[in-house]
Amino acid sequence: MGVVIKTDAEIELMRQGGRAVALILERLGQSVRPGMATAELDDITVQEARRHGVKPSFKGYQGYPASVCVSINDEVVHGIPGERVLEEGDIVSLDFGAIFKGLQTDAAVTVGVGQISTEAQRLMEATRGALMAGIEQCRPGSRLGDVSAAIQGFVEFRGFAVVREYSGHGVGRELHEDPQVPNFGSPGSGPRLQKGMTLALEPMVNDKGWMTRLSSNFWTVYTADGSLSAHFEHTVAITDIGTEVLTDLVK
Ligand code: MF3
Ligand code: CO
Repeated sequence: MGVVIKTDAEIELMRQGGRAVALILERLGQSVRPGMATAELDDITVQEARRHGVKPSFKGYQGYPASVCVSINDEVVHGIPGERVLEEGDIVSLDFGAIFKGLQTDAAVTVGVGQISTEAQRLMEATRGALMAGIEQCRPGSRLGDVSAAIQGFVEFRGFAVVREYSGHGVGRELHEDPQVPNFGSPGSGPRLQKGMTLALEPMVNDKGWMTRLSSNFWTVYTADGSLSAHFEHTVAITDIGTEVLTDLVK
């Protein structure tokens, strides 16, 4: 398929859709509380998407049955909302993508349920920090490996492990476009970034080992060793001088 370079007009639509995705994720994060069934988060997602005029992109994607992914504790990604009830001390990753006027954006956050352990807090901060470290490397002329290495370095320096079987990706006209954006790699390697590329960076970080296993439902990904996992994701656009985060609220 090759890398898809977006026009300024396409990026403007992604900016608008990305803002809705950010607002919806913020709302979901604020809704999380002990005693809540995760299916309720899916209901809120559907409602909020309608209100913001965007279409959830995960529902039906390769048969995925919900509008949001809700992954708890040792669930890494692609948890399916349902009957399971959130408990005080859980950490919950919320992953949401949407289409606005034909253009896709994708983002994720991990939040704590009530009071969480300091280890869980450290893990979440390392994952968010790794995403930011990756974003800092995004500018025309830098290489994809610079982004991957920055994410990996940030995580491993803090004693955590990056998941290797799942990656970030190009995003925009499709949910998943070239290039893949691994969360580990070597500086100075890989293709050069250029203006108009739009990427979803999404470190998934485990408290202990990096290996994962797939649930018998063929969706939910767990840490192989049962340790906690966190996930943060933003969609960014490479600009003339650097990068613009399309799925945050500070704009
Ligand atoms: N952010 C995830 C990804 O980029 C979400 C995909 S979930 C799926 O792969 F259900 F759509 F597959
Ligand atoms: Co993604």
